[in-house]
Amino acid sequence: MKKVGIIGVGSYLPKRRLTNKDLEKMVKTSDDWITSRTGIRERRIVAKGEKTSHLAIRAAQNALKDSGLNPHKVELIIVATATPDSSFPSTACLVQKAIGAKHAAAFDLSAACTGYLYAITTAKQFISTGLYKNALVIAAETMSSIIDWQDRNTCVLFGDGAGACVLAVVKHKGIISDFLEGHGEYSELMSVVVEQTRHPLDGKSTSGKLPYVAMRGKEIFKIAVNSMAHAVKKAVSKAKINLSIIDCVVPHQANDRIISAVAKKLNIPKEKFFINIDRYGNMSAASLAVALDEAVKAQRIKKGNHVLLVAFGAGLVSGANVVKW
Ligand code: ACO
Repeated sequence: MKKVGIIGVGSYLPKRRLTNKDLEKMVKTSDDWITSRTGIRERRIVAKGEKTSHLAIRAAQNALKDSGLNPHKVELIIVATATPDSSFPSTACLVQKAIGAKHAAAFDLSAACTGYLYAITTAKQFISTGLYKNALVIAAETMSSIIDWQDRNTCVLFGDGAGACVLAVVKHKGIISDFLEGHGEYSELMSVVVEQTRHPLDGKSTSGKLPYVAMRGKEIFKIAVNSMAHAVKKAVSKAKINLSIIDCVVPHQANDRIISAVAKKLNIPKEKFFINIDRYGNMSAASLAVALDEAVKAQRIKKGNHVLLVAFGAGLVSGANVVKW
């Protein structure tokens, strides 16, 4: 099996900022409540007409530039998203067309906030077995399109954005271990509720709200902490390394208090965690992708470092990877 590593990273955020103060005018909430309970200060929201594929394409182009790989040579494209432009064509095919990656295999993958790790691990298998030489992995979300903007329990938490990376065969570094897990028994804790049937067979369309995110946050909180800690232990044990040699942890950014609790549970100094939730909120799969790009650009991740990627999300699903940079 060939060694596979991340040879380039990139991201793209929509321009519009939605601050906690802006949200105070929309629902009964306060900057103080949001900041103290979540760590979020603002999030980005797409412009009218801007879709997940638009964010995905820009992030992909930035990652390809960083890697030096010619877009025409991309052999596999996977887009992790819970908010595709439509169920088909896949967002991956829209990216393929835009970047000119003729003949690449392309598909979308759905694993909510853990999507980026599921996509990286999936792409890695294709390369390590020799089927493809490289892969473009993207996580892109327009969470604003499935949020009920009158529900203060959820609308303060999410934002839009995209991140990407290029995977290829490497010699002395790479993705050392992977751990993915599903917890379907908790599926009812977070879902996208679909009340409407717009094209029923009998012609009588049902009324109801547009699809929206429903969540039992308090219950998810505990499971998130436990499942992330468990995933880290598994990935570190599979990598046959000691947790203390990890230089930087890039976690999914759902809540700063969740990150603190994971750090405490694993006895890892919080300073080792890269955190940008204050600026973007929870962008589902894109959170970890954007955070990884920013951690690299901020020199929090340097050549030779051991990096831990860890996430959990609706499903529920969780996972972790150890990467030697
Ligand atoms: N502003 C003001 N008050 C609010 C708000 C708000 N935006 N939202 C809820 N409240 C109120 C509640 O109604 C409640 O009031 P009550 O006591 O009168 O009933 C009070 O604040 C406390 O609510 P809690 O639910 O106890 O608040 P908690 O401290 O648990 O924080 C939060 C809520 C932030 C949602 C937290 O539980 C959390 O982060 N959970 C995990 C969420 C998560 O990570 N989900 C996965 C997403 S990832 C994916 O897959 C897309």
